[in-house]
Amino acid sequence: MKGLHLAAAAVSVAFTVVANAGDYAPEAWNLEARQKFAEQRFGIFIHWGIYANYAQGEWYLYQGNLDEAAYSRMMYGFCPSKFDAREWARTFRKAGAKYVTITSRHHDGFSLWPTKVDDGYNVSKTPFGRDILGELAEACRAEGLQLNFYYSLMDWHRGDYPPGDVAKKVPVAGRKPDYASYKKFMMDQIAELIDSYHPGNIWFDGEWEHARHQPDGTWRRTLDWEFDDIYDFIHSKKTLVANNNHQPIRAKEDIQLFERDLPGDNSDAGFSKNQPVVNDRPVEQCDVIQDGVWGYKIGEKRFRTAENVVAMAARAAAKGANLLMNIGPDGSGQLPAKAVETMEKVGRWFERNGESIYATYGCSVASGSDVVATRRGSVLYLHFLNPSVDKFSFKLDGEVVSATCLGTGRPVRCERTPSGDAVVTIAREPGDRFDVVARIEVK
Ligand code: GLC
Repeated sequence: MKGLHLAAAAVSVAFTVVANAGDYAPEAWNLEARQKFAEQRFGIFIHWGIYANYAQGEWYLYQGNLDEAAYSRMMYGFCPSKFDAREWARTFRKAGAKYVTITSRHHDGFSLWPTKVDDGYNVSKTPFGRDILGELAEACRAEGLQLNFYYSLMDWHRGDYPPGDVAKKVPVAGRKPDYASYKKFMMDQIAELIDSYHPGNIWFDGEWEHARHQPDGTWRRTLDWEFDDIYDFIHSKKTLVANNNHQPIRAKEDIQLFERDLPGDNSDAGFSKNQPVVNDRPVEQCDVIQDGVWGYKIGEKRFRTAENVVAMAARAAAKGANLLMNIGPDGSGQLPAKAVETMEKVGRWFERNGESIYATYGCSVASGSDVVATRRGSVLYLHFLNPSVDKFSFKLDGEVVSATCLGTGRPVRCERTPSGDAVVTIAREPGDRFDVVARIEVK
């Protein structure tokens, strides 16, 4: 961007294929899909399964030291009579989300679609009987949302899965580890998922239980997942691959994931420590709206505020990353009321300010915690996140063509100092604690 002095390299949404890709070169469809994904910038994550009935989060089988055979009987009590995919999709679209990623199958091994390739542990065997993923796929299409599928590699139900450090602690009847058999099962399920519902990406999780980072910097791996085969197979179906493994990204992974962490910060509950950020592919940060838990937890009353969700989206975008914000629907099929209320407010912000997030580039002119920046072409967006900060200066070589407050359209004060700095002062409505965006056009 001519005229705008960028202190450090700005993170771009235009990806180039880099050296660490080895001899793998993504095809045109793949680069296009990555680009489209990165431009979406804000998505909703859904963790849902029979664990919603227990209302203790998605790890309840493990954390509650339950007997797997007893836990899985809840399948016969899973009947979310209030599930309305159209209403969910409408809520997500109105919240400003451009995509939805749902747990097709979480660690407990229960499949949310009537899969033909499992051992009878799926939604078709519940009294509900409806194809949850199918209904959601249709509803997302109607609302213009891209649907993606989370898929757990780790499994606490099947006997053929070779358990790692975590799964070992869940006693599974008749366990007889056989990775070839488990891999075939996964590949058949993934084929079915892609062919039936056409997700944008398959989002893996759970590999981490078979990979431990050692003090000498190496990884101790206890299973060869044969990811090359799995990834080639998914790519052959023109679908992107992401793996939430808390490890450095592999050549054939299309999206770099950061769990509960701004890419590279390792600050919150993050796992970034051993994950250098690559800027040659889209980056996505996933996080929770209900404190510390992904699946519905009835006793957890702490929810993020809308102001906080918006600030997270802005911080992620300023790092060139998407934000995937999780909601755990309850056992009746409803989204927690508090989450819906928050999402409505987030949506009202996006309606007026979305231009400063979607399809923007990360920008390093402001990278503190009070103000962050995004940009598109010759427009710079300064996000004032701290309600008690209304002034920000940055180095600018060019001229300011216009400076307005994106939310209100009113002019924003922008003065120049003799040394060339631009000093931007916003006026915040009393009591407004949301991100206030100054839209600065320069030449
Ligand atoms: C962790 C958890 C899991 C959750 C995921 C989302 O890996 O094991 O429950 O689905 O994070 O990022």
